[in-house]
Amino acid sequence: MNVLMISPGYPAEMASFTRGLAQSGASVIGLGDQPAGALPAAARDALAHYVQVGSLASEDHVVATVAELARQVRIDQLQCLWEPYMVLAARLREGLGLPGLTVAQTLPFRDKEQMKQLLDAAGVRTPRHHAARTVAGVWAAAEQTGYPLIVKPVDGAGSADTYRADSAAELDAILPMVRHVPQVSVEEFIDGEEFTYDTICADGQVLVENICQYHPRPLATKMHEWISPITMALRDLDDPGLQGGRELGAAVLAVLGFRDGFTHMEWYRKADGEVVFGEIGARPPGARTVDVMNYATDADLFTAWAQAVTAGRIFARVERRYNAGSVFKRARGAGRITGYEGLDKLLAEYREHVAALELLPVGAPRRDWRATTVSDGMVIVRHRELAKAMEIAQRFAAELHLYAG
Ligand SMILES: Nc1ncnc2c1ncn2[C@@H]1O[C@H](COP(=O)(O)OP(=O)(O)O)[C@@H](O)[C@H]1O
Ligand SMILES: [Mg+2]
Repeated sequence: MNVLMISPGYPAEMASFTRGLAQSGASVIGLGDQPAGALPAAARDALAHYVQVGSLASEDHVVATVAELARQVRIDQLQCLWEPYMVLAARLREGLGLPGLTVAQTLPFRDKEQMKQLLDAAGVRTPRHHAARTVAGVWAAAEQTGYPLIVKPVDGAGSADTYRADSAAELDAILPMVRHVPQVSVEEFIDGEEFTYDTICADGQVLVENICQYHPRPLATKMHEWISPITMALRDLDDPGLQGGRELGAAVLAVLGFRDGFTHMEWYRKADGEVVFGEIGARPPGARTVDVMNYATDADLFTAWAQAVTAGRIFARVERRYNAGSVFKRARGAGRITGYEGLDKLLAEYREHVAALELLPVGAPRRDWRATTVSDGMVIVRHRELAKAMEIAQRFAAELHLYAG
């Protein structure tokens, strides 16, 4: 089977999915805007052929390039797991007559208003919401939504340009900061805990299910640099507190007609137990969460995804063995990393529970913590018992310090 993979080497996780495709027996043709020499080794080794385009954003050019390519080599399937190019990928599939999400099926995964309208019509609980394109529109939407509310782009990512307003005065202060956003969603603020619901599907069946809990909620993580965010993949999905979320997740996939591939949904659980839909993407979670899922299961879910989309099934059983959590670290100070504090003590106590440790080396320039979730370093810890896994993750969050200067 010949699979055309859009952007096979960027973002970094794409290289692992490209490798997974090759490992499941596909012949993988890559198409991206990275120079071939800049592809990560895992992607380069897995590709049978690579086509570089000037920019993936030049849609018409990409469409023409792919049409030309399809005249030279049979293309059986087209995959794209990178959010900004999902619609382009759907357009390319339609042009080549390939199976998979169409443009019309992809848009509800990209446009958070369309997404919620479809779910509302099917009776799924979403936050009350109204779209707005103008300042007057935001005020009108706020009037209908009430406070506290959230203002966010209809196609945002990583909590960018997302704000909470508890009053008209706070909304007034936010408006200048979202002026550049063409269309926003004004939503009822849902107070509660925040989870993911991630799947790998084939033929409309859920083959792998995953739930992570975010500590704290992503918006808080985005506002305060001192926070070390934790994403904890939960071992026991049969926990009674998660059943509402699983049912919500299954309902959402059915309403949106998702059939094959990875999905990443977010949902909220209120103190009274009510579950509320957050958002969904027709792609894997980012921020190294697939690695976290791999450490929770001792599986290779990059390859499992590839098997699901190319063969319709996953060859090895995926068992949930651990609670596994990532902890992202942000250094104190600006400039280059000068040192760590607390690491030796934590490793002396917990080394056997540390599955991955990737901190920027001393001397490396700090990363922009607002732009990349991974920030200046990541630790993945795991333990069979959730309370213990959380305790270890929270110790790394609180007691491991990176310094820059
Ligand atoms: N209606 C809402 N109620 C409460 N919090 C929200 C709401 N909408 C968004 N948030 C907060 O903002 C974060 C980012 O919003 P989200 O819709 O997930 O967009 P994205 O992750 O694509 O930027 C969420 O994870 C959550 O913490
Ligand atoms: Mg989100």
